This record gives sequence, structure tokens and C-alpha cells, in this order.
Amino acid sequence: MYSKKVIKYFTHPKNVGEIKNADGKSTEGSLACGDIVHIYIKVDPKTHVIRDIKFKSYGCAANIATTSVMTELAKGKTIEQAKNIKFSDITKALGGLPPVKIHCSVLAIDGLKSAIRNYEEKHGIAKEEDLDEGLIRSRLRRVMDPSVGRDIVSLGIVQSVKLDKGMVKLLLKIPKKHRFFKHIMEDIEEKIAYIPGVKGIERELLD
Ligand code: FES
Repeated sequence: MYSKKVIKYFTHPKNVGEIKNADGKSTEGSLACGDIVHIYIKVDPKTHVIRDIKFKSYGCAANIATTSVMTELAKGKTIEQAKNIKFSDITKALGGLPPVKIHCSVLAIDGLKSAIRNYEEKHGIAKEEDLDEGLIRSRLRRVMDPSVGRDIVSLGIVQSVKLDKGMVKLLLKIPKKHRFFKHIMEDIEEKIAYIPGVKGIERELLD
């Protein structure tokens, strides 16, 4: 059911790994299947060209192949050019994907866009979005609990979100002994801390 190219990229993926001190990084989960990718980018601060990009996939064969192709398409492009890469560019490069696997390529694109946004927010060049509780909640919807492959809002881990003069106050229902506690807390930080206007995050935990 997979093209020869998908098999080739799955068995010999390019740009696998992690970049230490990445300029931008993301963890994105697919709402369709619960799988996760990590993306790391190194960006030239003057030209905004993506000089290096690496990934780790906790997804299926199609996700490994599509994320690998995405890294090849993004490398050497400016962040503005990279934002225009579509999942259809990836599926075309792979000679097509089975319809039930299209979301795997969407996950690769979501990871890239999220890593670019992380870079832009860290470097103060992100387009301003209206900072409100809705924006914070929408970012939290992209934080996955890997143990069940669902986001922390729909799982009820996020009990409430309040915004007070730039301070984000979260009430989270999660035990500290949760297998992915550290991972989830880091992902929350990564998704929220750099939003323009956010001054800090306060977390109250319910067991
Ligand atoms: Fe989850 Fe492919 S089925 S990424």
C-alpha cells in the first residue's frame, strides 16, 4: 500500500536526531492518531534561513517518511518560505500516500510550523496574536499526554486557565508521579512561555 519512495524514506530516514541548543523546537501530536513528533531547527539570525533541521518521530512508517521529506524540503529555505510548505508537497514528493495516512504528513507540517513559531516567539519576531485565555487554551490543546495519545485539555488535565496581567495561571489535575509529568510540564512551557505578552506561568497541581 506504500509507494517505493515511502518505503525508502521509512527504512533510511534523513535528518533523524536532536539539535542541542536548537533555535526553535516543537513537540506536536496528531489529534487523529495520538502519535508525536519532535522537531529541532537551527536558523541563521540574519537571513532567517533554516541551516539545520532534525526530527524524532514516535509515529508510523508514513510519519517517519513524511517528516524526513519535510526536513529535506525545509532545509536551506527561509522561515517564510518554509511556512509555505504544504502536506501535499510532501505526499507528491513521496509519490502519494494512502488516504488514511494523509494525517501523518499533516503532523510533519504542524511540527515544522510549530518549531518556526517557537523560534519567532523566542526571538521577538512573531506576529502578535491577541493574548487571551482562548489563545492559551488553544496552545494547550497541542500538548499531548503520550501515554494515551490525547491532548491535555480534552483529557481534563487542564482544569482552568486564567490570565492576569501577563501571568498565566493554570490549574492542572495531574499527579507528580505521572509517567510523563516532566515531559508534559516542559511541553506546556514550550508552547506558552514565549507567547508575546506572557510574563510567567504559575501552576497549581491537583492529584
Ligand atoms: Fe499516527 Fe501515522 S498513524 S502518525
